[in-house]
Amino acid sequence: MAGLGEHITAMVRSHASGDDSAFYSVALQIAAREAKQGHHALAGDIKKAVDASRQAVPRSNITKLAQPRGDLADLVETSHPEVGLRDLVLPADLTVQLKQVLAEQRQRKALLDRGFSPVHRLLLEGPPGTGKTMTASVLAHELALPMYTVRLDALMSKFMGETASKLRLVFDEVASRRGVYLFDEFDALGADRAGNDVGEARRILNSFLVFLEAASPESVVIAATNHRTILDKALFRRFDLVLSYTRPDARQAGAVIRARLGSLIKGTSLAKLGDFTDGLSHADLVKAAEAAAKAALMRGDAHVDRDDLISALAARRSASLG
Ligand SMILES: Nc1ncnc2c1ncn2[C@@H]1O[C@H](COP(=O)(O)OP(=O)(O)O)[C@@H](O)[C@H]1O
Ligand SMILES: [Mg+2]
Repeated sequence: MAGLGEHITAMVRSHASGDDSAFYSVALQIAAREAKQGHHALAGDIKKAVDASRQAVPRSNITKLAQPRGDLADLVETSHPEVGLRDLVLPADLTVQLKQVLAEQRQRKALLDRGFSPVHRLLLEGPPGTGKTMTASVLAHELALPMYTVRLDALMSKFMGETASKLRLVFDEVASRRGVYLFDEFDALGADRAGNDVGEARRILNSFLVFLEAASPESVVIAATNHRTILDKALFRRFDLVLSYTRPDARQAGAVIRARLGSLIKGTSLAKLGDFTDGLSHADLVKAAEAAAKAALMRGDAHVDRDDLISALAARRSASLG
């Protein structure tokens, strides 16, 4: 008999493909397994839940929970992130602003009832590897929503003249399926980005802004860019909130390293590593920490020391800063 892991994998697959009968049949297999192990009450509960759902839940609701299909599946990538707010290392003011977004989304009903919109249109800008994509994941996770990622550069090159109509499909989805929608590489819409057909980029940007204006406050729409400068300043006003990301200071750098290494680095001082971490992004620091851990483990040590870190940071710096 298949193990729990295989059952869960099968359930997730059948859920994603919208195959209800396969989904329920796996649930019943789990019930049978539990019954065999003497867990009759649990087995009975699972069977009851399956029977009740089969009758009560209309087919359309199940579809809503599943992945977008057809055209839309080519446009968005669906994920269910597992990172929480406490995993993000940010300056205090950014954390406060993200908590505000979460609070307003959680209480959106009360706000909307009284004619106020929760913050739902965010622009994230800053250097690569500083947590913009991660922030979208965190918001999705904290709000228990799926995350739908649209890569604008890919969308534009794949659909050429049809990009605006594809955007409409995505924004229809924003209205009908609550989620966190991340438009990554948003600067692909910047008029002066090299290689862009300026007229086409302009048209797409204008459609985007029209859709953004009307976007449902039930979903969170996030645009992320590494290149603030090539975006039109007037554009910033179209978002409810603009968050600027920066590379970590020495204290934040230490926190990123500690978070990645956990007990492997217990007792090792990270003081005065500023010269080695300066200029590196959060993502660089995570990679350096991983390299240091691997070096120590392969040497047979269960502990990462300062020298491991310093050499990994130096290597990372020459790789990323040239
Ligand atoms: N602020 C941060 N706090 C903690 N880890 C971070 C942070 N920023 C980046 N990271 C790490 O680097 C990885 C890549 O970051 P990402 O969010 O994709 O950067 P960006 O979208 O800004 O280019 C993350 O998955 C995470 O491991
Ligand atoms: Mg990113």
